[in-house]
Amino acid sequence: MTANIKPFWVRIPYTLIGTGAVDNVGALAKELGGKKILIVTDQGVVQAGLVDKVKQSLEKEGIEFGIFDSCEPDAPVNVIKSCAQFAKEGGYDLVIGLGGGSVMDAAKLASIAATTEDITLESISKYIVSGPPGPGLPKILIATTAGTGSEISPIAVVVDVDGVKKAVRHEYCLTNIAIVDPLMTKYLPPAITAQTGMDALTHAFEGYLCPRPNILADTLAEMTIELISDNLRPAYHNGTEYLEARYNMAIASTYAMSTIPMAGVSLYHAMGHSLQIEAKTTHGISLYLVMPPVMEFNLMATPQRFARIAELMGENIEGLPLREAALKSIYAVKQLGTDIGLPQRLRDIRVKKEQIPKFVDILFTTYATRVTTNTPPLSREDATRLYESIW
Ligand SMILES: [Fe+2]
Repeated sequence: MTANIKPFWVRIPYTLIGTGAVDNVGALAKELGGKKILIVTDQGVVQAGLVDKVKQSLEKEGIEFGIFDSCEPDAPVNVIKSCAQFAKEGGYDLVIGLGGGSVMDAAKLASIAATTEDITLESISKYIVSGPPGPGLPKILIATTAGTGSEISPIAVVVDVDGVKKAVRHEYCLTNIAIVDPLMTKYLPPAITAQTGMDALTHAFEGYLCPRPNILADTLAEMTIELISDNLRPAYHNGTEYLEARYNMAIASTYAMSTIPMAGVSLYHAMGHSLQIEAKTTHGISLYLVMPPVMEFNLMATPQRFARIAELMGENIEGLPLREAALKSIYAVKQLGTDIGLPQRLRDIRVKKEQIPKFVDILFTTYATRVTTNTPPLSREDATRLYESIW
C-alpha cells in the first residue's frame, strides 16, 4: 500500500457483470434511447456465434439493427473510418462494440467519428493529439475476451496512418454501459485465452508498478494479479468446462484495466508495442516477452512491490532476503507463461536480431515519455540490452 495523497480520478462506467449478462443488452440499449443499432464486430466473433446472442436480445425488444463485421486486429484508422461511414450512412443512433480490445476500440472511435461532418483518416488521426471532438453516438461495449479491459477504459488504441500503435485517451472514449459476461469467453481458443490473459496481468502490473500508485489501484491490482495467477492456467487448459475460471478471469481483466486510468502506466506496454508492430506479433505475446526484462530492470526501484507480486502469484517468500523475494516475481511470470504455452524468446516468433534497433527507435520516438518517466530512467543502450536479453 501507499500513502500517495495526490488526487486521482476514478472513472468506471456502469458495468453489468455476470453469467448471462449479455441477455440484457436489448433492454439496456432501449434505456439509452437506441432505435436503430449498429453492432460493430469482426469475423471471428461472428463465426463463434456470439453475434447471435446480441441479435436475439435486440429482436426480443423489437429494436432494428445492422452489423459491421469488418474490424481488424489493432484497430487501424482506415477500419474506423469505414465503420464510421457505415454508421452515418445507415442512420444508426447507438453502437454496440462486440469483441476483443481491437473491436471495442474501433467501436469507440467510430461512434465518435460517425457524428462528425468530415470522416477522413486525417480527422480521426487528429483525435490522438487533440482529443475527440465530442462524445459521439451512445455506446455499449461487450467483451468477448478476458484481457483487454477496453470495455471500461477511457482509452482507445489505434494503428495510426504511419503504422504505429497510438492511444486516444479521453473521457469521450468511455462507454455508456459495459457488459462483462464470462459465457462470451467460454469457447475462446486456448492460445487467445493465454495471450489476452497475459495482457490483463500486464495491465495490473502497469497500475501497480507505475510512478504514481494509489491505494485504490493497489487494491484492485493485487486482487487481479492473484485472480489471474489462480485462474489463467485452468481457463487455458479447461476453459470450456471450468466456467468459474472464466468468470474470475473476466472480473480480473476488467478491473486490472481500471488501475491504469487511476494510477498510470509503467514501461511494459511501451516496450511491448514497440516490439509488436515491427515483429508482427500479437499484443499479448509481445507483452509477455518484455515482462521479465522490464521487471528485472525496475526491480530495485520498488523491491517490496515485486516481492508482494511474487507472493500474490503463489511463491513462498517467507524468510527470503527482499531482493530474492522480489526476483521470485520474475520466476512466477515465466512459469505462468510456460504453463500456458507462450513463446519464450524473440527468436521463437521469428524476430531477427537486426530488428532490435528498430524496436528501440520506436520506443524512443513514439513512447518517449514512458521512457523518461520510468524509474530508473532507461537509456537507448539499456533498451537495446533488454531486447537482446530476450532474443
Ligand atoms: Fe494491453
